[in-house]
Amino acid sequence: MVSPPAHLAHFSDIEGKYFLSYEHIHLSVKALADRVCASGFTPDLIVAIGSGGFIPARILKTFIPRPILTVGISYYGPDNKPAASPRAIQWIDEVEKKLAGKNLLLVDEVDDSRVTLEYCLRELLQHGPSQIAVAVLHNKKKEKKGRIPAEVRLYFAGEEIDDKWICYPWDARDIVGHERIARSGILSR
Ligand code: G4P
Ligand code: MG
Repeated sequence: MVSPPAHLAHFSDIEGKYFLSYEHIHLSVKALADRVCASGFTPDLIVAIGSGGFIPARILKTFIPRPILTVGISYYGPDNKPAASPRAIQWIDEVEKKLAGKNLLLVDEVDDSRVTLEYCLRELLQHGPSQIAVAVLHNKKKEKKGRIPAEVRLYFAGEEIDDKWICYPWDARDIVGHERIARSGILSR
């Protein structure tokens, strides 16, 4: 993986997995928000892809204060295997008309296969937004199954990482242990 800047210290690569602390996520989101602002793109609305994009979108709102709309999309089934295609488990529905003419910042935690992102971008494009930019915390460097539609010209990834499993703090059952691993780089005490 690309070495994180010194201020992003709480990031461990252990046994093929990345462990990230909440502090690391917050700093990454701030850096991402700075890059979105520096690009000149001014979002009117943040669209968060749930559930992984919810917490990153909320932190982003601290730096880019815009309303958050959420969409729930699942690509993995209950057996934790990718389904045939992504499934909208919650969509914007009656507020779809709010998207016309707006600059949307679509936020998710990880660009993995890119299938969910492509599905979501194609759905959003049907509602006449002015521009859509994508912001993900992590882009896994791998061959992608999905693709970013040509209409979407702005893509921001907080960090470009190797294709390893990322353990996000919000998935931790034992957050104290998780944060300790993320900071120490040691799996067991
Ligand atoms: P993409 O289009 O954004 O690349 O996502 P993709 O559909 O390939 O991802 C499938 C699911 O796997 C997504 O969750 C995504 O968040 C999750 N995922 C992929 N890589 C990692 C990883 O390294 N760590 C973690 N923790 N999750 C990963 P989902 O089924 O959409 O549900 P949800 O978890 O966001 O609710
Ligand atoms: Mg997700």
